[in-house]
Amino acid sequence: MTGHNQAEHTSAHVLDVRGLSRSFSVEKSMVQSALDRLRGVAPQTLRALHEVSFSIARGETLGLLGESGSGKSTLARVLMGIYEPDSGSAKLCGREIFGVRGSERLAVLRNMQMVFQDPFGSLDPRMTVRQIISEPLKIHGLMPRENVETHLARALTDVGLDAGALDLYPSEFSGGQRQRIGICRALMLNPALLIADEAVSALDVSVQAQILELLIRLRSERNLAMLFISHDVAVVRQISDRIILLYRGNLVEELPADQLLEDGCHPYTRHLLEAALFLREGDRLPDAISATALVETNAGCCYRPVCPQAGKECQQRPLLREIKPGHRVACHFAGE
Ligand SMILES: Nc1ncnc2c1ncn2[C@@H]1O[C@H](COP(=O)(O)OP(=O)(O)O)[C@@H](O)[C@H]1O
Ligand SMILES: [Mg+2]
Repeated sequence: MTGHNQAEHTSAHVLDVRGLSRSFSVEKSMVQSALDRLRGVAPQTLRALHEVSFSIARGETLGLLGESGSGKSTLARVLMGIYEPDSGSAKLCGREIFGVRGSERLAVLRNMQMVFQDPFGSLDPRMTVRQIISEPLKIHGLMPRENVETHLARALTDVGLDAGALDLYPSEFSGGQRQRIGICRALMLNPALLIADEAVSALDVSVQAQILELLIRLRSERNLAMLFISHDVAVVRQISDRIILLYRGNLVEELPADQLLEDGCHPYTRHLLEAALFLREGDRLPDAISATALVETNAGCCYRPVCPQAGKECQQRPLLREIKPGHRVACHFAGE
């Protein structure tokens, strides 16, 4: 269990996630599945999330960093109720979010909104901006009776768009502008938590910077808590207060964003940082490790199969332990 040295559930946290796990069964050919059944081999599962625990305070941005396939989107989807968790709990503003239905579920969703990666695919091309951004208000029965027009216009100008955009369609905007529309929609209900899953990854670098600036401004104006998910070390460092690193569904390190480069010490964290450095110089990844398609069959440290430091101790799964205030690492050798 990863219950060691962790902050207690406190209402000061907007989001409090404890021991969250989710597995998927691994896709196999029909022949392979039949052979496995004959031989009595249990169906294999892939642990997309393995006992993940963390919390986010009001006004705080937590960066979630990890390679493709590390389980980042699965985490977002489980929180949003798109996937069911296998086990674990999550509290939003002190209220449990799993297993609740009806009006309670609606109340949770109102407080937690998401911005997606693809600014082209995530907006319905047949809806006008007015319909897109007023939809959350309708769903939650929160249409302001008077001054709807003023309300919608103010919401748009707040994300840096012209109020004249209300009657246009998504196709009439650039990628960056569409992402502003997505952010506007997500904020219409004044949520306590915003989840941004690769929200700037599809944008050009200059547009990325503008959207990051917008998110930083909105966070401080509204005291928003944000879970900012990305595979991009530089982007996550820029926007986050704290960072957690995910490797094949395991939370391997957690630390303040401004300490990442210097103090990040899990072997996977060092690998990611080196890779980011190489990529910036236009070079190739050093002995690239595929985070996907590896099936969990054995116990021990998740990083052991590829870790240059692995030793005998690593046959035991390392606990996430605090090596100094605010800095936790799941490695037997951390802090030595
Ligand atoms: N619906 C699904 N069915 C089966 N496997 C899935 C599903 N969603 C995600 N996975 C697997 O879970 C792992 C984590 O995926 P994902 O959360 O999308 O990673 P990330 O967002 O970090 O790239 C991957 O190996 C992926 O193939
Ligand atoms: Mg993803």
